[in-house]
Amino acid sequence: MNVILDCDPGHDDAIAIILAASKISPLHIEAITTVAGNVGVEKNTLNTLKICDIVGLKEVPVAQGSTRPMVKESEIAEEIHGESGLDGPNLPAVPQKEKIDQHAVDLIIEKLIGAKEPITLVPTGPLTNIAMALVKEPNIKANIQEIVLMGGGTFGNWTPAAEFNIYVDAEAAKVVFESGVPIRMFGLDITHQVLATNETITDLQQIKNPVAEFVAELLEFFIQAYKDHFDFDGGPIHDACTVAHLMDPSIFTFEHVHVDIETKGEFTYGMTSVDLGGVTGKAPNVYVATDLNQDKFWSLFKEAISAY
Ligand code: BDR
Ligand code: CA
Repeated sequence: MNVILDCDPGHDDAIAIILAASKISPLHIEAITTVAGNVGVEKNTLNTLKICDIVGLKEVPVAQGSTRPMVKESEIAEEIHGESGLDGPNLPAVPQKEKIDQHAVDLIIEKLIGAKEPITLVPTGPLTNIAMALVKEPNIKANIQEIVLMGGGTFGNWTPAAEFNIYVDAEAAKVVFESGVPIRMFGLDITHQVLATNETITDLQQIKNPVAEFVAELLEFFIQAYKDHFDFDGGPIHDACTVAHLMDPSIFTFEHVHVDIETKGEFTYGMTSVDLGGVTGKAPNVYVATDLNQDKFWSLFKEAISAY
């Protein structure tokens, strides 16, 4: 399966890339594109390149994307991911790998227009690049297999109503959710069930390879940030759910429902209105993840990282 990872690394974005690039992964990464989100797009790009160095993704093109949301000002999540966007591990200041000299939106369009087989888009940050690509070249829709994204939920983590990725660029999310392209959504209802704990770190330390060590260091920071900021006992590795599902579609279960994006509410901007009760009578446009098999998820996680 061919995928484009569109991301803002980000501790959990990093884990998503690491799973996708593992030897046991059936995914072929066509490109990795970056977007303003957890921190500014330049930092997110540097982090992506450093992750590629660590996992040996030499050939995969990395393209930098949108510097800010479509309509409103940027908003970042430094309190969760640190000043660099990937605080914790001691990484070299300058990555070996270089980004390509093409904008992410243009690379996404080029890849999709030239695709011999449909490509699955995997956005794990704000949806700015994906919306921009759909607006700039609507013909790409024919070659998108599905958009498998992390975002939204029936409650928020940035406001009481809104999850960070959707809140940062709700206008972009509206374009994407109304595009008619098949969407699979991993919102907070599911990702808060996928909690990395100190036990996860101990398991990783036993694997004894540099990637496992890197993930353990990422999680040490991330778990502490979730403790300090949300008083959580564990760090939800939100973005990793998207890739885990693509690697093993039997882990998660879904409901096919209608989802609207709120862009006007005084208190609800960026909310995903998830019609689980079927009260709108509108046609379903999103497969929303509602449940998972914990054993299968964590076995896949460990197997993928052990394979490095
Ligand atoms: C989402 O926001 C980011 O901080 C994470 O990387 C994830 O994509 C969770 O709300
Ligand atoms: Ca992210």
